Amino acid sequence: MPQVLRDDVYRRPLATALDRLGLGPGWRCVDVGAGGGDVTVALAEMVGSGGRVYAVDSDPRARDEAAQAAAAFSQVLAITQAAEDLILPEPVDLAFCRFLLMHVIDPALVLAKMAGAVRPGGWVVAQEPITSAGRIDGLAMSMPGARHPDVGALLPALVVPAGLEMVDAWAEAPAGAGPGPVADYLASLTGVDPGDDPVVLPPLVTVIGRVPDAV
Ligand SMILES: C[S@@+](CC[C@H](N)C(=O)[O-])C[C@H]1O[C@@H](n2cnc3c(N)ncnc32)[C@H](O)[C@@H]1O
Repeated sequence: MPQVLRDDVYRRPLATALDRLGLGPGWRCVDVGAGGGDVTVALAEMVGSGGRVYAVDSDPRARDEAAQAAAAFSQVLAITQAAEDLILPEPVDLAFCRFLLMHVIDPALVLAKMAGAVRPGGWVVAQEPITSAGRIDGLAMSMPGARHPDVGALLPALVVPAGLEMVDAWAEAPAGAGPGPVADYLASLTGVDPGDDPVVLPPLVTVIGRVPDAV
């Protein structure tokens, strides 16, 4: 259920990033830390049957979930693999992650691994939150279970050390008050309905990096 809600409330940052890239038919992509497959399915819809999407997750249950979510798309291949060991059968045009780096031990290493999976001239996109910048009735949010709940705030500085050219970076946050997808999402995460309190969900920082052209 939270996957569906996340897809709903965080759909706009995903759409912004994919539009910015010009992702289209025939692209080869990897969704790293694919989880329930929301991003995988969005990528599969855009690359079409002539493209390819690898859905990579270290948790075998996530592979099954992503495979199930993307069952209608023959271009999706779900793989159980740690992002730290990322190796694909072919170089891809785009490596994407969302809500992944906040959970891994070394976000810089994982970003570099993603860069290594991409062809020269291809793209790496990461979307990660600044959890403590989210607000419920004006009070800061927290996520004690995550290793790096505020990694979004550091993300822009990780791009160049990962071997990438920085193309763009920005932040977007869903917000609302009263009944609606933002309140539903928060309730699904915390078990508490915010009622009519104003909610600003954690901003998602997006970075777009490009692998330098081969010389
Ligand atoms: C919060 S979910 C995000 C799912 C999806 N990217 C999304 O935005 O809906 C994080 C996912 O990352 C996976 N994950 C955590 N650490 C990982 C690692 N080191 N390598 C690969 N996947 C990992 C988890 O198993 C989980 O499915």
